[in-house]
Amino acid sequence: MLAELINKTDGEDAVLSERQLIGLGVLLLFAGHDTTAAMMGLSTLTLLTHHEQRKELMEHPEKIGTTVEELMRYLTIVQFGLGRVAKEDLELADAQIKKGDLVVVAMNAANRDPRAFQDPDTLDIDRKMARHMGFGYGVHACLGQNVARAELKTVLPKLFQRFPHLRLATPLEEVPMDFTGTNYGVRKLMVTR
Ligand code: HEM
Repeated sequence: MLAELINKTDGEDAVLSERQLIGLGVLLLFAGHDTTAAMMGLSTLTLLTHHEQRKELMEHPEKIGTTVEELMRYLTIVQFGLGRVAKEDLELADAQIKKGDLVVVAMNAANRDPRAFQDPDTLDIDRKMARHMGFGYGVHACLGQNVARAELKTVLPKLFQRFPHLRLATPLEEVPMDFTGTNYGVRKLMVTR
């Protein structure tokens, strides 16, 4: 994708400035790569610690679609919420919001809301849900969500098919987590087969 973008920056057919190219490169790295990589590590950890769910997925590979949606809901890696500025005065769930106010939407709370999801703290790869907030919502919802879904639907089954006896090489409490970035994730995941 970067090579394609570079082609659009150089030569006679150039449609992007170098500044735009750099901006898109940074966007792809952080919005596209960092997020998906974090989801792959955490999803692996989650499936390694939910044996019944992993077994169910291995026996029913057709459940990978609902598994990925459930992992997106359950993990909600974009951890600090989405900021929005109110364009006008409004009332939202009994709160008075003034034009210009910053509103931060806690997606992780929304994705564990018991009014929206039954038994929300349980990972359930068979969960029937209309939607979750893992890719945001509305006009700025994730542009790359279908790429991310395609990557996760490919990687997770392949990993567990290739290494059916994969397991954690360290106790769960010793897995180093990274909670400092926009997305949380595992710093390192030691596994054995
Ligand atoms: C599992 C992986 C991913 C997660 C969890 C994720 C999450 C999100 C979230 C929550 C937003 C909304 C931000 C907001 O409303 O302020 C967003 C926006 C965005 N994402 Fe993703 N994303 C992922 C993968 C990707 C990929 C693979 C790409 C590109 C290849 C991508 C590109 C974008 C872009 C361009 C936006 C901005 C959309 C806009 O502001 O209109 N994302 N993402």
